[in-house]
Amino acid sequence: MAQGHASHPAGKGNRREVLDPLRFRGALGLFATGVTVVTARHPEAGLIGITANSFSSVSLDPPLVLFSIANTARSLQAFLEAPGFCVNVLRKDQRALSVRFARQGGDKWEDVDYTAGRFGAPILPNTMAAFDCLHHAQHEGGDHRIIVGRVVDMEHNVEGEPLLFFGGRYRTLGEEIG
Ligand SMILES: Cc1cc2nc3c(=O)[nH]c(=O)nc-3n(C[C@H](O)[C@H](O)[C@H](O)COP(=O)(O)O)c2cc1C
Repeated sequence: MAQGHASHPAGKGNRREVLDPLRFRGALGLFATGVTVVTARHPEAGLIGITANSFSSVSLDPPLVLFSIANTARSLQAFLEAPGFCVNVLRKDQRALSVRFARQGGDKWEDVDYTAGRFGAPILPNTMAAFDCLHHAQHEGGDHRIIVGRVVDMEHNVEGEPLLFFGGRYRTLGEEIG
């Protein structure tokens, strides 16, 4: 960071009192991620699901993972109240599922196959991995809420390739370099 600042001796450009939101989003988008669909079953709201690339591992012992959900998401309250959730890590041929679960509201579940996890959260078939979680904690995170889950069950399949997201676009893996 200091190096970047030094290349702007007048202090213009890199350092601002208020970050420009578009530049911030653009910079964040340079962190390549996988793509997940996080699902849950709420006792009243029923099945919910959102596409999320904010998934992250947190702890090995106990086994904890997190994702963050926008305060504007229609399914926010249901995710906060559901007993658990499942993080489904998409495969490169599952872009349509990502697009479907990134649409706000509507019936995202029409014709979608799944099996139920320990707390009723839908586990999607043929993903790279699925982490079935007990709701462990939730934290304030600005315009998002951070939801932490304790992994109680897991499926994974090392064959095949994941769907990736980089620079606002879907990608596939490049060559292995090390
Ligand atoms: C690649 C990708 C990653 C996304 N990651 C997140 C995320 O981590 N958290 C989030 O709240 N929304 C994320 N979104 C947007 C949500 O998927 C979208 O707003 C969702 O459909 C909200 O659903 P709902 O309002 O019906 O609850 C992402 C969208 C895309 C395309």
